Amino acid sequence: MCGIVGYAGKEKTVPTLIDGLKRLEYRGYDSAGIAVISENNLVVKKAAGKVSDLEAMTRNLTGIKSAVGIAHTRWATHGEPNEVNAHPHVDCTGRIGIVHNGIIENYKALKTYLEDRGHRFVSKTDTEVIAHLIEEFMKKEGATFMDAFIETAQAIKGSYAIAAVSLSDPGTIYATHLSSPLVIGQGNGENFIASDASPFLGRASKIIYLPENEIAVVAAAGIKTFDLDKRKKDPVFEKFEGTLESIQKGNFPHFMLKEIYEQPERIEDAFRGRLLLQEGNAFLGGLSPVWDKLLKAKRFVISACGTSWHAALVGKYMFEEIARVPTEVDYASELRYRNPILGPDDVVFVISQSGETADTLATLREAKKRGATVLGIVNVVGSTIAREAGVGVYIHAGPEIGVASTKTFTSQLAVLTLITLAIGRGKGMSKEKGKFIASEINSLPEKARRALGTENLVREIARTFKDSRNFLYLGRGANFPTALEGALKLKEISYIHAEGYPVAEMKHGPIALIDENMPVVFVVPKDGIYEKVLSNMEEVKARKGRIIAIANEDDEYIDSLADFVIRVPRTLGWLGPIVNVIPLQLLAYHIALELGRLIDQPRNLAKSVTVE
Ligand code: AGP
Repeated sequence: MCGIVGYAGKEKTVPTLIDGLKRLEYRGYDSAGIAVISENNLVVKKAAGKVSDLEAMTRNLTGIKSAVGIAHTRWATHGEPNEVNAHPHVDCTGRIGIVHNGIIENYKALKTYLEDRGHRFVSKTDTEVIAHLIEEFMKKEGATFMDAFIETAQAIKGSYAIAAVSLSDPGTIYATHLSSPLVIGQGNGENFIASDASPFLGRASKIIYLPENEIAVVAAAGIKTFDLDKRKKDPVFEKFEGTLESIQKGNFPHFMLKEIYEQPERIEDAFRGRLLLQEGNAFLGGLSPVWDKLLKAKRFVISACGTSWHAALVGKYMFEEIARVPTEVDYASELRYRNPILGPDDVVFVISQSGETADTLATLREAKKRGATVLGIVNVVGSTIAREAGVGVYIHAGPEIGVASTKTFTSQLAVLTLITLAIGRGKGMSKEKGKFIASEINSLPEKARRALGTENLVREIARTFKDSRNFLYLGRGANFPTALEGALKLKEISYIHAEGYPVAEMKHGPIALIDENMPVVFVVPKDGIYEKVLSNMEEVKARKGRIIAIANEDDEYIDSLADFVIRVPRTLGWLGPIVNVIPLQLLAYHIALELGRLIDQPRNLAKSVTVE
């Protein structure tokens, strides 16, 4: 949540920072601000609303002479989203400007300490203490900006990525972080800091993943890093090869739609070089260091949040049914505070698109502390969870900009299918069965492509139901999480209330909600429990519920029960969610579009949830 960017270089600083903010806007979009040093002035501009509002406000600064600046796009935690609470925040003298992503947990005590020393606060944020602390510590005899910045980093508690500029050192950005992401980009005569690498795509050729509790001192001329004792460190420069296309919408009106349509290719990317059709197996290099542990584990635990948690739940069906390993699935936010029973016999998978989700990261740390083997299934390369897990698998879905996860869900599932097959074979599954499963897995990109062909029908269904105030999504087995994910997508981007339930649970409560105004979405592939689901559909029909069915192409019976039938290709039951979820993503998208919602940036949400 919140995106920060800093620039030191010879190009136009204000447009560079605004462009960087636009690329980070998925992280938060309720207000934005910028601070640049120009001719010995700290020029600060802030706007409530989107980065485009800030851009309009700073148009007259486009050509301003400035070689260094910082900027911020906010997702409010402390203090409502308005201009005053927007970052950057400044000290009493207006000479120090800072931006911050995270939460300063001890800000109240620090604020009292600073107010007692005469500092005046203008915002309701936790962040403002940082600017005043630096100012206060600068008053110490002989203190440099660096000394004061380090002392501030030692005084604050919580999670933070901070960038600061000061008139006392006008060509330099100081940055540090703890439990919030921060990367540094090295370009040609220009350098960047940012919450992720997107602001310097196309301009930096090397990246540094700054270790936590290190200080980066970034100027146009170079980058230096230090520990908190001011000892110089040797930063590790890695090659940076992102492409600009990956963060552009292309011909699509929204990132979400682009990402929905990318899914067949991204699933192929997840399989590439890993799915071994002839051997009926899968090989994931990232699992090698813990392969024996995976085969001997008494239990798997999968932990995640949100959509990644839904992927985890599908993973349980996969691991138990095919790999035959008892598997528990836990919300990361619950597991971390529950005194969990975890130990050396357990393998804990943490799943995260961003690799930065605070609760998932805390779970990873807790599981490691308790001696479990931990594996990450992550999208963002070099993210904190990817680095701290050390062992794991990248899903290779590429940047996901739409706040509602789509392609990363199916790519997570794609990787889980491979892990399932590999472990299944490792535990004695026959080659023949392995080959059959591998060929079914291999058919998934094509089946996903066919599922995208339902869009016209889905658009018509969206128009029919766009004014409904509630939806029920029902699925069974591995498609129970599919139902949960369909409901989450609708809630997130259309703001319509939706609930996902296991089909058979309906009669234990939710059935009371059903009348002629309630659309009920059934995920009803022709698998082992198909007939049971049909009976549940009868129960809804008897109560005049409106039925939308996600069914298989060869299902001839379903029309007699459903008001609308969306047909998708058939696959094995446990692989079904990868195909079946696609029309549900499209349904949420088209309902939100009909309602005129801000699809890529729904209210109150942020892509990367780095606070608890
Ligand atoms: C999904 O549409 C959501 N935006 C959200 O639930 C997300 O999946 C969750 O915050 C977890 O994020 P992560 O995968 O980056 O850890």
